[in-house]
Amino acid sequence: MRTQVAIIGGGPAGLLLSQLLHKAGVASVVLERRSREYVLSRIRAGVLETGLVNLMHEAGIAERMDREGFIHDGTLIANGNDQFRIDFKELTGSHVMVYGQTEVTRDLYEARDAAGATVMHECSGVKPHDLTTDAPYVTFFHEGAVHRLDCDFIAGCDGFHGPCRQEIPLSVRREFEKVYPFGWLGVLSETPPVDNELIYSNSERGFALCSMRNANLSRYYIQCQLSDTPDDWTDDAFWDELRRRIPEEAADRLVTGPSIEKSIAPLRSFVCEPMQWGRMFLCGDAAHIVPPTGAKGLNTAASDVNYLWRALVAWYNDGERGGIDTYSETALARIWKAERFSWWMTTLLHRLPEQSEFDIRMQDADIAYLQHSTAAQTAMAENYVGLPY
Ligand code: FAD
Ligand code: DHB
Repeated sequence: MRTQVAIIGGGPAGLLLSQLLHKAGVASVVLERRSREYVLSRIRAGVLETGLVNLMHEAGIAERMDREGFIHDGTLIANGNDQFRIDFKELTGSHVMVYGQTEVTRDLYEARDAAGATVMHECSGVKPHDLTTDAPYVTFFHEGAVHRLDCDFIAGCDGFHGPCRQEIPLSVRREFEKVYPFGWLGVLSETPPVDNELIYSNSERGFALCSMRNANLSRYYIQCQLSDTPDDWTDDAFWDELRRRIPEEAADRLVTGPSIEKSIAPLRSFVCEPMQWGRMFLCGDAAHIVPPTGAKGLNTAASDVNYLWRALVAWYNDGERGGIDTYSETALARIWKAERFSWWMTTLLHRLPEQSEFDIRMQDADIAYLQHSTAAQTAMAENYVGLPY
């Protein structure tokens, strides 16, 4: 087989890149390890920055999002029973879109199907070769046979555990990591959201987040122990704990019901430098991870895709290689800012095992400063809605 861009990983980054390239007349093949059903059953992010929303328009897949997504002009921050609002619209003139990652992925698959694209599922042993030559290729197993895919470029969109990052030699690869000593227990339930905006809540018992997917689908998270498993938490125990961690007036309004999904995610900050090696480029979780506080995971994947897609199209259409040569540098400049923001929001709102009374006073002071300073709120809002590409 031969294509122009071989894309490893059929998550949101790989699919979006493939669709944008297709719109610009560049061919690609997507190789995904899992089945489509598996990819679509993963419940993950729910908040899209305007940059990603605009990319979805450029990719021609925004119709359902425009119809079913919800524009949020602000968010609520709580510290115990004290609650205040950050008004994104007033502070930045911008907003975010609440539309699930699962829905983005579904829309992308449908668009790729409609275009007759090659997206191969259940590929195993995927391995990139000859990255520092002009003729890289990928080998893999599919339906019992060994395949070879020749290409001009390889996009490593294979998530945190994928093989592409490991292809960058250790002599040039630097990895920066911070692991947080707690996780997030997430629950999805067919109940009306407790508020029409998200609530990020710091409490004596730990962090809680009230989010949503639509008028009758709520997504809630609570900070939990890393050693917890979803089975340790009955639905009743989850709802009781959530109620204790959000302001009383919200707890009184909370509508509970059976969970339809329950999972635990560890929290990690991670960046790999560089994000390119020869003719291979890393995008999204393959190159970096943020803790989920601040909803930057999917959005940073999208900003990488934005830079890479434009660089590849400039190469194919105009023979211009500047964007390709500087991809890693350009992408990382924005990534590090999103890393800082996610680390800051995580540190602001979670209880840490070793936290002293002084540390807690610092958190309280940081939240009080955010509550009363327009400058602090503007800084938070411009990061939350997404820094420009
Ligand atoms: P992925 O979505 O991980 O996609 C990578 C794809 O590559 C996968 O489909 C994988 O199967 C495939 N792949 C892996 N290895 C191979 C291989 N060897 N060969 C071929 N294919 C391979 N972000 C938020 O903003 N908010 C959240 O609430 C949130 N919750 C999350 C919960 C969990 C459990 C996880 C893991 C992440 C969460 N994130 C969240 C982060 C967000 O979902 C990711 O940042 C986003 O999915 C990144 O997209 P991606 O395409 O780069 O990676
Ligand atoms: C969601 C997840 C986040 O990490 C976040 O900061 C906001 C919303 C969500 O899944 O809805």
